[in-house]
Amino acid sequence: MASVTLTGVNKIYRSRGEAVHAVKDLDLRIEDGEFVALLGPSGCGKTSTLRMIVGLEEITSGEIAFDGRRVNELDPQRRNVAMAFETYALYPNFTVAENLAFPLEVIGLSGAEREVRVREMAAMLGLQDILDQTPGSLSGGQQQRVSLGRALIREPAAFILDEVMSHIDAHLKFRMLFDLKRIHRDLGRTTIYVTHDQVEALALADRVAVMSQAELQQVGTRNDLYHRPANVFVADFIGEPPTNFFPARLESSNGAARLHVEGSDLAFELEPEHAARLGKTGDERFIAGIRPQNLHLGQARDGRGASIAAEVAISEYLGEQVILTLGRGESVFRALAAPETHAARGEPVRLHYAPRDVMVFSASSEALIA
Ligand SMILES: Nc1ncnc2c1ncn2[C@@H]1O[C@H](COP(=O)(O)OP(=O)(O)OP(=O)(O)O)[C@@H](O)[C@H]1O
Ligand SMILES: [Mg+2]
Repeated sequence: MASVTLTGVNKIYRSRGEAVHAVKDLDLRIEDGEFVALLGPSGCGKTSTLRMIVGLEEITSGEIAFDGRRVNELDPQRRNVAMAFETYALYPNFTVAENLAFPLEVIGLSGAEREVRVREMAAMLGLQDILDQTPGSLSGGQQQRVSLGRALIREPAAFILDEVMSHIDAHLKFRMLFDLKRIHRDLGRTTIYVTHDQVEALALADRVAVMSQAELQQVGTRNDLYHRPANVFVADFIGEPPTNFFPARLESSNGAARLHVEGSDLAFELEPEHAARLGKTGDERFIAGIRPQNLHLGQARDGRGASIAAEVAISEYLGEQVILTLGRGESVFRALAAPETHAARGEPVRLHYAPRDVMVFSASSEALIA
């Protein structure tokens, strides 16, 4: 097992005379035994990062270390990390047992030792009954489990998974998430899991590293990412439906500070502590953010608290909740409501919120201020 440390890592590809900066100044430490997800949209540099960790891609600059030992110059074979990709890459003419045993043969384990390890791995992944079958006769989910087993079986120092669920349908995915979590708990291997799906990342990982456009945006627990997003990108990317954003101006009157939304008569009240932080920036314009979950339809229980008025534009019924799309002037935003909510198009409504749930970002850097 090993900790994995990336320090100032860059990857620049040169293709047809053009430079593609795929990973920029990446600093990231994954603790021994930790499960970290690398999350971000397509093309943000996730696979490039993994390939540098595994040794399949040269590191343009910076350093990667396992347990504090620099590995930049080590061959993939000598790094002792296993990688599984979204494609199964199983040997079609080998049985499941032979596929699982193959990496052990490569490292020179005896037939008896191989048999024990294959049996253990098969038991852990529920593959006992299909050991004699070839990959062609298996379901996608079974193939995926065999490929995971093959990556895990040589007990690597770190285990690296790139979009391994993307070809698995929803109900099998649920099962695989469960299996992966259990395998991690049983083996305690350092695991780096790449995905563009926040549900997978948040379900599996101890910490999630969010990337966008070659740069790390934030590393944190799901609580950190949801409640203290580092910037507009993370607040937008994490959470479903996404955070509502409003360009707004800070105004103070009678000792209370408000953010007046541009293009409508909406205004958000601020916690005094938050207002003080905004005041210190010397800026006047900000981006206000509030999650749809934090806008509550109807009267506040104690009849007090902050609220905004809007008209209902769309009401989407999702079973256990309703997503309301609302409008006010040029502002369009969403709120979650209870399933029994009946909100007709054009109906005026009042939405309550707690001022502490209003996130405020810099209009220039988009970083969280309060
Ligand atoms: N071998 C290569 N040569 C040139 N450019 C590359 C190469 N591999 C990746 N890139 C570019 O580097 C950037 C990052 O690619 P990468 O595959 O790391 O992204 P990703 O986050 O894994 O995306 P996805 O979610 O689509 O798999 C992209 O702009 C991609 O086009
Ligand atoms: Mg990728």
